[in-house]
Amino acid sequence: MNISPFILERYFAEYEFNVPYLLCSSDCESISIKDLLQLEEESSEKLENVWLGYTESQGAPNLLKQIANLYSSIDSKDVLTFSGAEEAIYIFMRTMLQQGENIVVQSPCYQSLFEVAKSEGITIKQWNMDKDNGWELDLNELENLIDSKTKAIVINFPNNPTGYLPSIEKYQQIVDIAKRNDLLLFSDEVYRLFEYNEADRLAPACDLYDKAVSLGVLSKSFGLAGLRIGWVACKNPDILEKLKWYKDYTTICNSAPSEFLAEIALKNTDKLIDRNKQITLDNLVLIEELFTEFSSILSWNKPKAGVIAFPKFDEAVAEKVNYRKIAEDYGLLLLPGSCYGYPDNYFRIGYGRKNFPEAIAVFRKYLNEKFN
Ligand SMILES: Cc1ncc(COP(=O)(O)O)c(C=O)c1O
Repeated sequence: MNISPFILERYFAEYEFNVPYLLCSSDCESISIKDLLQLEEESSEKLENVWLGYTESQGAPNLLKQIANLYSSIDSKDVLTFSGAEEAIYIFMRTMLQQGENIVVQSPCYQSLFEVAKSEGITIKQWNMDKDNGWELDLNELENLIDSKTKAIVINFPNNPTGYLPSIEKYQQIVDIAKRNDLLLFSDEVYRLFEYNEADRLAPACDLYDKAVSLGVLSKSFGLAGLRIGWVACKNPDILEKLKWYKDYTTICNSAPSEFLAEIALKNTDKLIDRNKQITLDNLVLIEELFTEFSSILSWNKPKAGVIAFPKFDEAVAEKVNYRKIAEDYGLLLLPGSCYGYPDNYFRIGYGRKNFPEAIAVFRKYLNEKFN
């Protein structure tokens, strides 16, 4: 297998731990093990007694139960845990698709959602979001992309990098198209539960369709990326079985301490998410102020969910923007649009972190120095 580099992850590998102001992180502010343990009585002592042997390959039974609680028609047997969401994406693409088939992938998106399949010789059909119309998706275009060789539709709502969340009606139509064509529906829901208005929340795809695979993780909305606990939920036992077989060749089982901590996190879902939402909504006000102030050169679609957006510099000034130089001169990290196959006047901004006010002050300084 010959796979292309993951452009975004290589960019982060260069800068993430070397610059003070990350203005493009895709996750919420994290917490320490100590803070997490404070959410449950006597948990410190219990953590000390966690057995460091192999754990159950599907996931610890108590953890599976907590994950199943996030869905309305799923129980423990329908859940399979992984090391992060990334392992689940990799294994799904490696097991469920065959050469000669194609998949329709919402675009732009997190690179692994198409790159793993592409490296296996699967044809990728991009279902492009409309950059000039609030990142909307066209259902006729989806229907036109599907042919007799199509095996799956890959979606990601709320979307990385645009923050786009479709209406509940449009989402249901996407599920219906998958059903009508008897396609697998791989639904990356890693930002689910992070809608600013709960009325906008979409049902998990696995609750709507038996051939849908819902992808979840503790990294994003929960802010617990260091646990590396992700999962899929799916009501089709044959799909889950295939994924299980492959996992025996990757990680076999989770880290025991992570499973213990993940269970505490999920028992305290509301507390953790409410805290992260408060940080995010406060930060959102600061971005709006900045984008209003610099509206002659910056524009964006304000997301309805998640912690990232995909704004752009006006094309007239695009040549002046050099993200690597911004990182070097200002210690400020923005993610270039080219990490998503877009022109570099687009960039990803992330607003889930606590030091966002400081980081945006540095961004303002840069904008003032270069464009005023
Ligand atoms: C949309 C999306 N899916 C999956 C992942 C992978 O998540 P993890 O790092 O927890 O494996 C990411 C990470 O950035 C993501 O943004």
